[in-house]
Amino acid sequence: MEFDFSIFVGRFHPLFVHLPIGIIIVTLVLEVIGKAGKNTLAWLWFFSFATALFSIFTGWQLTQGSSYPQDSLFWHKWLGITVAAISAVLWLLTAFTENYKHNATWILKGALAIILSIGGHIGGQLTHGNDYLVEAAPGFIKNLAGYDVPKPLDLSNIQSDSIVAYQHLIYPVLEQKCVQCHNQKSASGNLDMTTPQSLMEGGDGGEVIAAGDASDSELFRRVTLSQNNIKFMPTKGVPMTYYEMELLKWWLNSGADFEAKASTLEMSTDVIKGIQKKYNVDFSPRPWYEKEQGPKLDTSAIEAFAKSGFKVTDLSGSDNFLEIGLVGNEVNGSVDFGNISENVLILDLKNSNLEDETYSKISSLKNLIRLQLNNTDTDSDDVLKIDALPRLESINLYGTQIDDRALEHLANFPSLKRVYTWQTNVTPGGIAQLASKRPDIIVENGIN
Ligand code: HEC
Repeated sequence: MEFDFSIFVGRFHPLFVHLPIGIIIVTLVLEVIGKAGKNTLAWLWFFSFATALFSIFTGWQLTQGSSYPQDSLFWHKWLGITVAAISAVLWLLTAFTENYKHNATWILKGALAIILSIGGHIGGQLTHGNDYLVEAAPGFIKNLAGYDVPKPLDLSNIQSDSIVAYQHLIYPVLEQKCVQCHNQKSASGNLDMTTPQSLMEGGDGGEVIAAGDASDSELFRRVTLSQNNIKFMPTKGVPMTYYEMELLKWWLNSGADFEAKASTLEMSTDVIKGIQKKYNVDFSPRPWYEKEQGPKLDTSAIEAFAKSGFKVTDLSGSDNFLEIGLVGNEVNGSVDFGNISENVLILDLKNSNLEDETYSKISSLKNLIRLQLNNTDTDSDDVLKIDALPRLESINLYGTQIDDRALEHLANFPSLKRVYTWQTNVTPGGIAQLASKRPDIIVENGIN
C-alpha cells in the first residue's frame, strides 16, 4: 500500500475523537458540581474545542474516498461540527466574560451533552455497523431496540424418532443464515437453497453438495473458510456457529439424504450436543432401563418387604423398576427378594447390620445397577458370595473390611464402572491390578 496522507491521518480519527468526548464529559461534570474555578473551566473548554477541531480534521480526511453510508455520515459530520462550535462558544464565554455562570449557558451545556451522545453513537455505527451494540446485547434488549431476534428453535415437542435430519435440523440453519441471499427471487451465485432440488442443482460453480463428503462440498467449504476470505459465507450477517457447522458436516457426510430420519444416522457426541443445544432434543443414548420394562410388580411382595423394615420406591423415568433401602439400620429376619428380584435397580443397605446370607441373595438381582454396602461389616468373603451381576454399574464399599480379593472378584462384573473403596484394606497394588484387567472401572479410593 502506498503512503496516503488522508488515509494515514484519517485512521487516527476513531482514536482522537475520544479526546474531546472525554474532556467534554469531565468539564460538564465539573460545571455541574461547581467545584472548578473560571480559569480551569476556560482551559478545559479550550481543550474541548481544540481537540474537537482536530477530530473534525482527521474525520474529514477519513471520509476521502470512503464508502460510508451518506445519511449517517452527514449527521455525524454536522453533529461533530456543532460540538466544536458549542465548545468554542463556552470557551469564549468562560474566558472573556463574567457571564459564564449565567443560567442560559445551561441550555448550551445540556444541548452539548445530547449532541455529543447522538453524534458519538452514529460514529460508532459508522465504524462498527448498525447492529454493533445490540448484536452483543441480551435478547430482551434486542427486542427493545427493535432488532429481529431469530426465534430459538425448539423441537422438544416433536417425537425424536420422527425428526427428519434435513428438514428439522439443517434447513432451519440455512434459512436463518443463507436463504436471504440464496432464494428463488435473488439467488446469489445462482444458488437457490429454498428447495432440495434447487440446492442439489448448485450454482454458477456447479454442484455445491457432494453426498457423503462434506470436505468436498462447496456448501460446507464456504462456511469453514477463514472469515477474511472473500469466498466466506455468509458474506454478511452472523456466521454459522461451531455446532451448526458440525450438524451440516454430519448431514453431508452421512449421505446428504433429504428424507433420512435423524435417529437413523450415526451421530458423534458433538452432533448430539449440537442438536441438544440448538434444538433442545436429546439424542444421547438412553440407558437400558429407560427403554426396557421390568416384570409386572408383585404388590403383595412389595408390601411384605415394606413390613420387614424396607423402604421401597418406584423409580421415575423407568417402568416397574424399584429402589430398595432400609428405614432403620436393622434387617428384620432374612431378606427374600423373591418375586421382585428382577425389579430391583438400586439396593441401598448402607450403615446396616447384614446377615451373611444376604450377600448370596443379592446374586438374584439380575437388573441391579447400583449397590451400596458402605459402612457395613462386609468383607471380601461376603463380596465373593455375590455372583457377577450382569448390569451392576456401581458398588459402594466405603468403610468396609474388604481387601484386594474383593477387587479381584469385581473384575468379573461386566458392566461395572465405579467402585468405592475409601477406608478399606484395599492396597494400591490391588487397585493397579484391577486397572490392568479392567481399565474401564474407576476406583474411588479417596484422596490419593
Ligand atoms: C448477504 C448475502 C449472502 C448470504 C447471507 C449468503 N451468501 Fe452465499 N453467496 C453470496 C454471493 C454474492 C455469492 C456469489 C459470489 C461467490 O460465489 O462468492 C454466493 C455464493 C455462494 C456459493 C457458491 C455458489 C456457486 O455455485 O457459485 C455457496 C456454496 C454459498 N454462497 C453458500 C452460502 C451459505 C452456506 C450461506 C449461509 C451460511 C450463504 N451462502 C449465505 C451471498 C450470500
